[in-house]
Amino acid sequence: MKKYLVIGSPIEHSLSPKIHNYWFKKNKVKAIYEKKKINNNEIKDVILDIRKGNISGINVTVPFKKSIIPFIDELTNLANITQSVNTVYKKGNLIIGDNTDVGGFELGIKKTNYNLENKKVFLLGAGGVAPSIIFALEKMKVSKIILSNRTRQKAEELKKKFLNLEILNWGDTPSFDLIVNATSMGLKDEEIDLDYEKIGSNKLFYDVIYNPTKTKFLIKGEKLGNQVENGKMMFLYQAQLAFNIWHNILPLVDEETISLLNI
Ligand code: ATR
Repeated sequence: MKKYLVIGSPIEHSLSPKIHNYWFKKNKVKAIYEKKKINNNEIKDVILDIRKGNISGINVTVPFKKSIIPFIDELTNLANITQSVNTVYKKGNLIIGDNTDVGGFELGIKKTNYNLENKKVFLLGAGGVAPSIIFALEKMKVSKIILSNRTRQKAEELKKKFLNLEILNWGDTPSFDLIVNATSMGLKDEEIDLDYEKIGSNKLFYDVIYNPTKTKFLIKGEKLGNQVENGKMMFLYQAQLAFNIWHNILPLVDEETISLLNI
């Protein structure tokens, strides 16, 4: 039976196995999907298992999306531009690294019916998922992306690739139409320190985090009269796109699939 994996650290809370195994059943694919916590020096062993055919594909999550790149033979265009790999498979004798986070974010935000064109975006966080979000936002023709990260240097690094970024000190609050939390703040109920009063209403608050379903960031945004969305649909769509790459089947993201994430 074909075997798939999601690798990361921590990995206990990953819902990828639940979603992919559900789609295997629905689409009568004979395969199994598991999660595996690894450390940095185990990446090469996992890749070797793909080379040998013991594993047919992997998803990659925090903190290996970039560090896996040296072990990969060929990057797709998206993976190369973002320097971020979340989907790996073998094509012929080559190990291919792809990125479905860009598409996941794009489809997720389209689902909110929020038109991003010419909108001003305030992006919090310059970690693993940030380049995918920046690329997707640029593709959707936003007018400006203001990036703020606790460690300013990491934001400056991203600006070398995405030249139009404007960098702001952590804690400063600019005016914007859409604010995206791409930090890990909120996973453990932490609060993001922003000037919420200054922000006001009628904006879109988007959190990449989907567990908890409403972070403090979203709760505050909602109280002020803003539209709020969590990262549930982004997560489901990145999984859908990975499934399609591996099995050439676009599985359904329907109410039943969405309900699998109600944890
Ligand atoms: P990595 O930074 O290793 O890629 P990540 O989970 O993809 O890991 O990203 C974590 C993000 O959350 C980063 O933007 C991080 O900021 P730093 O680059 O300064 O580390 C941010 N983050 C995590 N804890 C934070 C905190 N207590 N305050 C502010 N930002 C935080």
